[in-house]
Amino acid sequence: MTRHLLRDDDLTQAEQNEILDLAVALKKDRWKLKPLEGPQTVAVIFDKSSTRTRVSFAVGIADLGGSPLIISTANSQLGGKETPADTARVLERQVAAIVWRTYAQAGLEQMADGTRVPVVNALSDDFHPCQLLADLLTIKEHKGELAGLTLAFFGDGMSNMAHSYVLAGVTAGMHVRVASPESYAPRDDVIADADRRAAETGGSVTLYTDPNEAAAGADVIVTDTWVSMGKEEEKLARLRDLGGYKVTQELMALAREDAIFIHCLPADRGYEVDAEVIDGPQSVVWDEAENRLHAQKALLVWLLRQS
Ligand code: CP
Ligand code: NVA
Repeated sequence: MTRHLLRDDDLTQAEQNEILDLAVALKKDRWKLKPLEGPQTVAVIFDKSSTRTRVSFAVGIADLGGSPLIISTANSQLGGKETPADTARVLERQVAAIVWRTYAQAGLEQMADGTRVPVVNALSDDFHPCQLLADLLTIKEHKGELAGLTLAFFGDGMSNMAHSYVLAGVTAGMHVRVASPESYAPRDDVIADADRRAAETGGSVTLYTDPNEAAAGADVIVTDTWVSMGKEEEKLARLRDLGGYKVTQELMALAREDAIFIHCLPADRGYEVDAEVIDGPQSVVWDEAENRLHAQKALLVWLLRQS
């Protein structure tokens, strides 16, 4: 059966582990596997801007022996004259997989529904599961086992990144804390899904409004932009509302002494994180950005093996 990655809990804990183990192997030996040799093409579609996702998929698909076809929706029929389902019917006859960065999660679901090739969410308004595979790989490299670690997220708890940390984190058996104003708390249905998954893995998710409480004793400190793509009109309100959730050196000092700092990037220094943190010794953001390549290659290999 064709498998897709539309949200983080599409993978079980065991499947997440398989992909991370494969990512470790592919990082050691970059050209080890060539499932796309031929070459087969993978369509990578962008409705929103991107640097890391665009480059890491293009390079990763080439590493796997394939040919990336980068499509900007501004120059395609998708989103204008053609539905995601019809676009998928055209693409599935010509490409090995479809990767799509878009706004609505519902569009990804329509793209994947009944499609014979894997569909991968390369960021939607709700989730960013590819980033989480890279982040978990990075945390594993620096901390060893994921299960039992405490990860604390600060800022926009309704964002795609916060939702993905909640779902992917509990899938890995981690204790995920989200610190945000009440009006920026993660969506109830995401928390309910995370609680169900946590009951299977021993993880947990806890919501905080006090950032200091959330940081206390954490192994991993993480934040994301306060103004996600598509939220630009809310910029002033967001800067005002989220101002108390900045990751500062003082906040880092409340976490474990060996805590690491991660951020999916791009970052707004001085807003969600101070420069001394993101550019300081506890930050592993450049490893994290590199790991997009290894994690996504592993994901593509794994998805292609399932079908
Ligand atoms: N982290 C991330 O997805 O970066 P891009 O927006 O540059 O792809
Ligand atoms: N939350 C951010 C992530 C960017 C990679 C956004 O959606 O803009």
